[in-house]
Amino acid sequence: MKISYGGDYNPEQWDQEKWEEDIELMVSTNVNLVTLGVFSWARLEPSEGVFEFGWLDDILGRLDAAGIKVDLATATASPPPWLSRRYPETLPVNDQGVTLTTGSRQHYCPSSPIYRRHARELTRMMVDRYGGHPAVSMWHVNNEFGCHTSRCFCEQSARSFRTWLEAKYTTVAALNESWGTSFWSQSYASFDEISVPGATPTWKNPSQLLDFERFSSDELLACYLNEANVIRESYPDAQVTTNFMGLFKGADYWSWAPHLSIISDDNYPDPHDVGGAAAAAMSRDLMRSLKSGQSWMLMEQAASAISWLPVNARKPPQQMRALSYQAIARGSDSVMYFQWRQSERGAERFLTGMLPHTGTRSTSWRAVQTLGNELGALDAMVTAPVPARVAMVFDWESWWSLEEDANPANLDYLREVTQWHRALFDMGITVDFIQAGAVPEGYDVVIVPTLFVASDGELKALDDYVRGGGQLLVTYLSGTTDRTARVRQDGYLGPLSQTLGLAIDEFAPMAVDASARYGTAAKLSGDLVGSGFSSVWAETLLIDGADVVATFDDGELPGSPAITRNNVEDGVAWYVATSLDSTLRRRLLKALGLIPVIVRAEDSDATVEYVGRGDVEFVINHDQVARTVTLDLPHSPSVEHVEVDPFGVVCRSRGTAAFGSVGSIST
Ligand code: GAL
Repeated sequence: MKISYGGDYNPEQWDQEKWEEDIELMVSTNVNLVTLGVFSWARLEPSEGVFEFGWLDDILGRLDAAGIKVDLATATASPPPWLSRRYPETLPVNDQGVTLTTGSRQHYCPSSPIYRRHARELTRMMVDRYGGHPAVSMWHVNNEFGCHTSRCFCEQSARSFRTWLEAKYTTVAALNESWGTSFWSQSYASFDEISVPGATPTWKNPSQLLDFERFSSDELLACYLNEANVIRESYPDAQVTTNFMGLFKGADYWSWAPHLSIISDDNYPDPHDVGGAAAAAMSRDLMRSLKSGQSWMLMEQAASAISWLPVNARKPPQQMRALSYQAIARGSDSVMYFQWRQSERGAERFLTGMLPHTGTRSTSWRAVQTLGNELGALDAMVTAPVPARVAMVFDWESWWSLEEDANPANLDYLREVTQWHRALFDMGITVDFIQAGAVPEGYDVVIVPTLFVASDGELKALDDYVRGGGQLLVTYLSGTTDRTARVRQDGYLGPLSQTLGLAIDEFAPMAVDASARYGTAAKLSGDLVGSGFSSVWAETLLIDGADVVATFDDGELPGSPAITRNNVEDGVAWYVATSLDSTLRRRLLKALGLIPVIVRAEDSDATVEYVGRGDVEFVINHDQVARTVTLDLPHSPSVEHVEVDPFGVVCRSRGTAAFGSVGSIST
């Protein structure tokens, strides 16, 4: 099997004479897969029920003759103007009641039966015509579901929301109980009285909001299934995917993953962002985890600049290469781009392509070509697993609920998760993500960052994990509410209280408006973690047996416990009542026995990573200066010093002596 290399190919934007050149150049750069037809609905069905497939037949034939496989899109991502004009009720409405119109893309309400019917019909035509085509190796359903329109507030969405609620609760009495509608006189006499949570005078019902988030994610998933099922009806074994967007808030990818044959992801780190590579690593770890370690596909990245940031930084060739290897090292079996040939018109004309405006003379083309020619060295890694020592719970419902307005502070779920991941990334320790309620197996540590919404069963599963000998680290606000958004009456941590040997007394979030105090308000000290700073959050604890590892030294709670540890049967449960700075996080993780693979000075700001996949170990330098990385690997007799060029990638087969260039490994 081969690493897939290629990108979105939009031949409909070009005259036919360019197609021959496209294919020749694709062959010259070892492109072996293209995603075809993502935005071609208007070209395929120029008016209702009138289809023009000739051009697609032609290009598929040419790609097939060149040995290039096709990830064929269902072409439903951007409805043609005739559909929106004839059926204006398919247009989405935002939370301020504004109808979003044509002229960009994704202008459809995910709940619209008319949109879904037309999308299904087009998919059926595509499947009947191309399902058996020798070039078609996989199907690409729609595109980045919810990227622009993940929540719709139109009348149809309101009707569909009511239907969804009725299916969930059966009786309106059950809904009233679950939503706590006796607060502010919100009791509903029938499902017909319920609306989508659009513009309101003030704070909305948190339980209603949480259900609306679930509903909206489910509606997007229903759109995916609307098309995926058509493909599978005819070709049950077809490879079917849709491109995810990393840590995307609009869709709970845990619930989507079982419906995809293979996970695929689009990733656009800002080349100017020094933390961009670490954030990309986190998305890649999530993608690998969504199907329990199964390899995934990097479906889109930019060859150089993107076009939708305030400042669209150039991505130097070596940086593009480093990010591409990162994806492979973290479980991708492909390196793909948006898009093959840079557009000359349209809203993304300044987003570079594999073949940019400057053509084959350009630096970025040469980088794309060089990479295409060297990736073959890693073909033997396809499907190889990426072992991880740490698992981290990631929970979309906690993300949604924690970031609603009616909460104890202005909290950022992703920030907390990201900072734990970053600490481990900096230590060279690979992380798997797991769902709340999963039974973690084979990890040295399980981290539960701010699992705000959790059921008793999910918290019990963590307790069982500890009692079975596991090591657990839980952070502030976990288990505060159940899955209906109701605050727990048995103490905010619920069943985890016993595991952790403490209870929460009172919340004491730190000030955000007084910038002098933010981030420096509370100083932590303690034998295990030394002193440092924390920010964002604090709370007073009632200790019921846990050891206090660190206290707040100043701020509003001097002397109050900040980090605790509790031995329970064969396991250990740690609690962190605040948001730690990066140095403290790393020290605490070391205190949990996680020996860093990357040995780094505390004040080092290097963005370098170590990650192993299958039999190969990678060291990747994401900085534009050369780095010497010190590695302390359990399987090496002594500490090693590895030199890595600016944006350099070195690797070796495990057990061989030296790190070298990618071409030097024998997989
Ligand atoms: C993705 C999308 C592509 C293209 C790309 C570059 O989000 O799937 O169609 O727009 O971004 O912006």
